[in-house]
Order: sequence, then structure tokens, then C-alpha cells
Amino acid sequence: MSLLETFAEIEHHFRPLLAYLPADAAAKITSFGKAKFMQKYIEDVPDEKVMFRKDHSVKLWDIRFNAPIFNAAGMFKLGKGYNVVANQGAGAFLAGTTTYRSREGNTKYKTTHPFLPFPRSQAAINWLGLPNPGHEVVADRLSKIERVKNCPIGISLSYDSVDSNEIALKNMVLGLDMYERAGVDFIEINESCPNVEGKSVSNNLEPELIERLEYISQNFIAKLNRNLPVIVKLSNDTNLNQVEDLVRILSDLKYAGVNFGNTSTRYKELENSIRRKEKHHYYYFYNTFGGGLSGEPLKQTSLELASKAIKSISKINPQNEFHVIRTGGISSIRDIEQSIQNGIQLNQWYTGYFKNFGLHGHDLYKKILD
Ligand SMILES: Cc1cc2nc3c(=O)[nH]c(=O)nc-3n(C[C@H](O)[C@H](O)[C@H](O)COP(=O)(O)O)c2cc1C
Repeated sequence: MSLLETFAEIEHHFRPLLAYLPADAAAKITSFGKAKFMQKYIEDVPDEKVMFRKDHSVKLWDIRFNAPIFNAAGMFKLGKGYNVVANQGAGAFLAGTTTYRSREGNTKYKTTHPFLPFPRSQAAINWLGLPNPGHEVVADRLSKIERVKNCPIGISLSYDSVDSNEIALKNMVLGLDMYERAGVDFIEINESCPNVEGKSVSNNLEPELIERLEYISQNFIAKLNRNLPVIVKLSNDTNLNQVEDLVRILSDLKYAGVNFGNTSTRYKELENSIRRKEKHHYYYFYNTFGGGLSGEPLKQTSLELASKAIKSISKINPQNEFHVIRTGGISSIRDIEQSIQNGIQLNQWYTGYFKNFGLHGHDLYKKILD
């Protein structure tokens, strides 16, 4: 057991006590602690690659994923940490989200990259603001990674929200080209981060969203001359009634799939999923910073949205291969089984991943899949 695994296990047991701290102090400690933990985490490579007892791999878009689950975007923003998850047996390594220019991320009231977990509720909230070193730096890093079998590399990109629409779109294509040249295996466009200035989350089918999707389709997807699936990550707050139209538009534009989805800003609606003892932290965080809610409260919506997308595919019968990824509240084998029962073959996790790392360390994929 590595020192980090031991630390995570101890921390997992003491985490519920966080609720007894004043909210501002808790947010400062956990935001700082998370950043420090991640610095160590990306270096904590397990000695050997985990082998599953049976084959859990999934082949989609002609790419084999070692498992039906891998990390959600935001965990490896620097593009470092491939060998950690590859040796854990993850389905893939998803780096980013990156933007064309590097970003510092958010700081407010002396709290940098605000993040607060609600361990009793198996949830978390963050207002990081997409800190990242930029497409170029991460593309260069990814280009140098030596692949482990069945652990493909994905990258999540987002627009620079501070730019005009025209520049943001052009720079997005430049970024996509960089990652194409870097040899990544799949791309996820983050259309749903609630934590950046001047951008509304695409909960609905807005004309601006369609415009961006069309631009990327014409200026990147249509010009590709190798197999490089481009999927779009939408919000877990997406209106269920619009899923079919969204799937139709995406498949018509030759996107390879959709991911439901990103964090939620339905603070009031989801309030009941936060345990009583943690509510004061919850109120403090969203009133002070805003941010996106993740974890258990998203389990139902991610299942509903992704299942609706699957049903839409069978109705629409797209010409190109189109798949659905489910993200939000995944933390156990039951969740993955529920996805499979609804035709969803790939899942991503973030909040549940760290809960399981506290319980099982680097054996987390093996523990939940075997
Ligand atoms: C600290 C933190 C940072 C995140 N950063 C990103 C990001 O950079 N890009 C992105 O698409 N999603 C980001 N997310 C959202 C996750 O990828 C995921 O969609 C969301 O947390 C729901 O999944 P979960 O319930 O398994 O956590 C972030 C989430 C957290 C908790």
C-alpha cells in the first residue's frame, strides 16, 4: 500500500467530521487539501497493472476500453497521471478540460479553486473555473505517453469564454488540430461547465450551441482522415424533452456521441439530497461561489438523460456510430449494471471515484468490477 493510499483511507474515515467545521474554514481546507492531494496522486503509479478476473472490456468506435468506466474530465487537467489510472485498470484516461490559453482558475475570499465535499451525502461542489495550462502544453504531454494496452487517451476541451465567439471557435479548432496531431484516441467537447465567466450552460437547445456544433463539425470533424470520435458533454441539467433533438442534431453533424453529463446548478431542487448536517456548508458554498454539484444527487438524472439518448438513437438510427456516455453519481457496480440494463456501455466518474479510492486505493476498479 502506498503512503497516499494509506492517507486516503484514513481521510475517508474522518471526512464526515468536516461537517462540524465552520463552512468557510472547511472550504479553505478542502480546496487547499484537494490541490495538494492531486499533486501527489498523479505521481502515485501502482507498481503493476491490475488484471481483472474476467474481461470487462468494451469496444466502441473500433477502440477497446479496458473497462466500462473511466475518470470524468477535470481530474487530470494537466494531462499527467496516465500510468496511475492505466495500471488501475481504468477504461481510459481522460485529460483536461483544457482551453486555448492557460487559465488560473477562480479565487475568491482567499480560497483558490473552491471545492467542498459532502461525504455524508456522497456529493461535492466545486467552482474551480477550469484552471489548466492550455491546449498546447497538454497536447505535447499527451503525445509523449506510451500506451498501456486497452487504455486509450481522451482529451476534454472547452472554448475560451472570455473571447468573442469568432475567436473562441477558431481557437477551438486550433486546439482540436493539436490534439489530433498528438495522437489522442477520442475527444470530448465540454459544452457544460458552469464555472466560467460569460457563459451560460447549455441546458437547452440554444441557437449559439447549434452554431458552435456546426462550426466544429465543418471545420474539424469533416476534415478528419483518421478514426477520431468527437463526443459532446452536456449538462445533467439538460431538459429531458430536448434529448431526442440533441441526439438528432449531433448525429447529423457526425459527432460520435454524447455524454450526460456535467455538474448541476439546480441548487434548490437538489437540496434534499444533501444531508441535514451538511446543509450549512452547501448553502454557504453556492451562495458565496456558485459552482457545480456532483455525485449522488446526479445519479437519477444522468440515468434518465443517458437512457433517453439511447432510446433516441434507436429511433433516429444514425448513419455513423453514435454512443452515449453516462456521468453523474456513479459509485458502484450497481450503477454500472443499471447503465448496461439501459443500453449505456460507457460511464465516467469523479466524485464516486475518490470515495472508492478512499475505500480500496488503487484496487478500486478491480474491487468494483470483479
Ligand atoms: C473538482 C471537479 C472538477 C471538474 N472539472 C471538470 C472539467 O474540467 N471538465 C468537465 O467537463 N467536467 C468537470 N467536472 C465535472 C465532472 O467531470 C463530472 O461531470 C461531474 O462531477 C459529475 O460526475 P460525478 O457525479 O461522478 O462527480 C469536474 C468535477 C469536479 C468535482
